[in-house]
Amino acid sequence: MKTVVVGGGDDVSNAFAAGLAEALGLEVYTVYRKVFPDGESYVKLPEEAVSADRVVLVRTMAPPQDKAIMEALMTIDALYEKGVEEVFLVAPYTAYARQDREFTPHEAVSIRALLRTLRRAGVKAYFTIEIHKEESLKHFEGPAFSISPYEYMAPRVRVEHPILVLAPDIGAVDRARRFANAIGAEYDYIVKKRDRKTGDITIEPKQLPAKGKNVIIVDDIISTGGTVAKTTKLLLEQGAESVTVVVAHALLAGDAPRLLHDAGLSQVYAANTLPNRDPSLVEVIDVSPVVAEHVRKVLG
Ligand code: R5P
Repeated sequence: MKTVVVGGGDDVSNAFAAGLAEALGLEVYTVYRKVFPDGESYVKLPEEAVSADRVVLVRTMAPPQDKAIMEALMTIDALYEKGVEEVFLVAPYTAYARQDREFTPHEAVSIRALLRTLRRAGVKAYFTIEIHKEESLKHFEGPAFSISPYEYMAPRVRVEHPILVLAPDIGAVDRARRFANAIGAEYDYIVKKRDRKTGDITIEPKQLPAKGKNVIIVDDIISTGGTVAKTTKLLLEQGAESVTVVVAHALLAGDAPRLLHDAGLSQVYAANTLPNRDPSLVEVIDVSPVVAEHVRKVLG
């Protein structure tokens, strides 16, 4: 079976596709895309993709998310229309993942709608990096993988010892533990405490003091930057030498870059799932080889 990798047309997806193809030893091509004056997308398949039996399409769901999703659907539809037998989707960043249930009655569950739609469009297997909640993948009703990039990223993060790796909360401590073990550092998680008299909220490590340490916070995403900015300020006030963040997704929406600079954050290391909104702060690590390991197993 002839299998090729196809980049979805935007820079992040195309670069990811190139890395993935190299790791898999496959040929890579890119979709041609443009936007009409009314805002609608146009997609044209590369000739070589049409003659393949199987296509591994790479399309991240960076903002504008709706456009990314629509273009992915158009590409998948066109590939099947042209006779491709199987389409696999690698979406380094899965959008719409945070509405994963009805928080109040009658809300649309966006991740369910998205994953069901992709499956019904014919996606044979779905690969993403660190989706907001792994259990959301059940909505895909087929092989679906949320791939953890942190152990691969760990040796590529340049921070000097003594290091304290921190999870932003107890639920994320496993991520911090694996990262810390990979670099031989100690780890802990952050607890929020409210002073009953003043109502003030403090954020501090549960057991290990941050004083004198180069702190690395390991989280899944920086969105508005509010969580990291606040935590960074408080850790520096507690005597931390520096604060660095390692995330799968540096979305950095709106004013996030300024918030993070103002908080005194040293550096962000992010997987290559989204465009880099602030190269002075964010160093991107290519994690496509980790995804390739999972894709290889499924392709057989
Ligand atoms: C929370 O569940 C996540 O792990 C992140 O800490 C959070 O989503 C970050 O959001 P923001 O950057 O908007 O504070």
